[in-house]
Amino acid sequence: MTNTTATPSLFAPARLGALELPNRLVMAPMTRNRAHADGTPSELMAAYYAQRADAGLIIAEAATPNRVGQTYANIPGIHTAAHVAGWRAVTDSVHAAGGRMFLQLQHGGRVGHPDNSGSIPVAPSPIPLPDTIHTPSGHQQAVVPRELTLDEIHSTVEDFAAAARNAIDAGFAGVEVHSANGYLLHQFLSQNTNQRTDAYGGSVTNRIRFTLEVVEAVAAAIGPERVGVRISPAVGANGIEEGDTDAIYPPLVAALARRHLAYLHVVFADPEQPLFRRIREIWPGTLIANPNLGWGVPLPEDGGKHAAERLLGAGADLISLGRSFLANPDLVTRLRLGAPVNQVRDAHLMYVGGAEGYLDYPTLVAA
Ligand SMILES: Cc1cc2nc3c(=O)[nH]c(=O)nc-3n(C[C@H](O)[C@H](O)[C@H](O)COP(=O)(O)O)c2cc1C
Repeated sequence: MTNTTATPSLFAPARLGALELPNRLVMAPMTRNRAHADGTPSELMAAYYAQRADAGLIIAEAATPNRVGQTYANIPGIHTAAHVAGWRAVTDSVHAAGGRMFLQLQHGGRVGHPDNSGSIPVAPSPIPLPDTIHTPSGHQQAVVPRELTLDEIHSTVEDFAAAARNAIDAGFAGVEVHSANGYLLHQFLSQNTNQRTDAYGGSVTNRIRFTLEVVEAVAAAIGPERVGVRISPAVGANGIEEGDTDAIYPPLVAALARRHLAYLHVVFADPEQPLFRRIREIWPGTLIANPNLGWGVPLPEDGGKHAAERLLGAGADLISLGRSFLANPDLVTRLRLGAPVNQVRDAHLMYVGGAEGYLDYPTLVAA
């Protein structure tokens, strides 16, 4: 679906594997901490996602494939029967509202805490996150993670494959493997978090191995056309310093390209950046780009429409937006009409709480 002719409109339909998307706007995955304590998705979540079913595609928030991979409190899981049943209620309500959904699979690695997951976090190397972690009793300093053994690396790969099968059983059209933003897969890619001396550390070939093995196993489990991958080149989230960004991503993307996946999803995509252009050249399939609208600042008045159109012009096929979807259940309509967008309010309710700051953002009609 690479653009070789005129730039399509944000509101033009697109095909993604077996899915027909009515527009090119994707709701980016956003952790909102509204799951039950055991990771089972709640009724609130079913209502929240159904409100946003006009998105061309919803990528549901990071769900953990095993208990030790849980990052924060009230994060959904996708590794028990109760998780599958809870997610089934979410996908049913989105489908009833006319929407389409993938689920993001995220293992936190060192971004976790025993008070959240019940055990010491695991990581490529015993290097702690240089930050605090939110736990049920407040912010606590991150602990030194335990280095994954080779057996544990292999069983984690299997956990991702099992989680992907669960996601399909729960009614998702596919999954997004999270290899971005400083979580476990990104920790393997980056020099400052991966100091292993075995086949998973050192050279670029070794550091990209874990992501490739996870993707391979997930694709074998559910079919490559139902698998996307998220990457965030040069994004320093969660203490990441990749060190050799330009050396990591071209071979990673080239290796992923051979697997005929549903899509590649690039965080903070910048049409002026040579690496973004290089990725577009290497990646033959659907490219989802998430524009950098500025972090920690208000949303642009147009909700990101101009930035989205620039990225379509630079060859992206689909555009993901996060906070604009969070604050605007009817974002697609607003962008189509050029209507102003709601700003995110009560930032403290982004990652904690109930219906307030979650289900109560007004639509244009309600306003
Ligand atoms: C509340 C919140 C939660 C997020 N959770 C996730 C997540 O679970 N997985 C992920 O890959 N990115 C996550 N992100 C990042 C978004 O997907 C997106 O990349 C980021 O918000 C930038 O896009 P925006 O400027 O349109 O919001 C989160 C962002 C926000 C605001």
